[in-house]
Amino acid sequence: MDFDAFERSSWEGRAEAYERGFALMTAHLVEPLLNSAAVGPRTRLLDVGCGPGPVTAAALALGARVTSVDADLDMAELVARRHPHTEVRVAVLPDLPFPDESFDAVIGNFVVNHTGDPAAAARELHRVLRPGGTIALTCWKYPEHRAGAVFSEALRSAGADHPADVPTESPFSAYAEPTPFARLLAEAGFEGAAADTLRWTHRVDPGVWWADVLAGTALTGTVIARQGPATIDRIRAEYDRIVAGYATPDGRVALPACALLAHAVR
Ligand SMILES: C[S@@+](CC[C@H](N)C(=O)[O-])C[C@H]1O[C@@H](n2cnc3c(N)ncnc32)[C@H](O)[C@@H]1O
Repeated sequence: MDFDAFERSSWEGRAEAYERGFALMTAHLVEPLLNSAAVGPRTRLLDVGCGPGPVTAAALALGARVTSVDADLDMAELVARRHPHTEVRVAVLPDLPFPDESFDAVIGNFVVNHTGDPAAAARELHRVLRPGGTIALTCWKYPEHRAGAVFSEALRSAGADHPADVPTESPFSAYAEPTPFARLLAEAGFEGAAADTLRWTHRVDPGVWWADVLAGTALTGTVIARQGPATIDRIRAEYDRIVAGYATPDGRVALPACALLAHAVR
């Protein structure tokens, strides 16, 4: 299946579960993103791939004028319900329904890694930003992002087959290191592009994290859900074995998390 078509079908119906679980992980990047993009009172901000709106919420609290866009209708409806003061659109990168130079800042928290053509997405974000405007984007950094990598390791150790019609990886994988991520922005026309590596610890009940990732992620959630019951049991047993290495005395696990934050100016 084409990567974009896979993305459209696999986010459907995940919005509320994503908000309850996986968004607690992506929330770690909200403050660094707002700082990098210099968002403040009256900034015209585009939150692209907004999901349930962790960036939107924090930007509104700062007094920014926020437009929230997501490709998924459920996500867009959820962000509209939660944040009536943001303007919400359903739109799919690399095609945004805005005139040139509409925004002072653009933030995309873990969205460019979900696009089939990251270079075209970066060019479109350049188009809608005014000269001198700021952009800040994030992606996961593997293999350091253990909170995600434990799932691919569990799939491998359990001998699970990858479903033939599911993409094996995102086209963004080619950019998921600091230098290529910064180059993606530079080649789209941005100035002063750089990518920082951010590390933190995701402390969570291991059973809750398993459920959060199954319900709230497109690729990993789909690959696991498409296995037979016996294979899912084996994957879960491997997952339990691997995360036991990160156990804390309170019964939770402390999983190292790692992301890249790329920022630049138009
Ligand atoms: C990992 S979630 C990130 C959500 C949110 N930004 C956050 O901070 O948690 C990725 C979101 O990007 C959206 N998305 C995926 N591909 C997209 C595209 N091409 N254009 C716009 N949104 C897209 C998905 O529907 C999903 O809501």
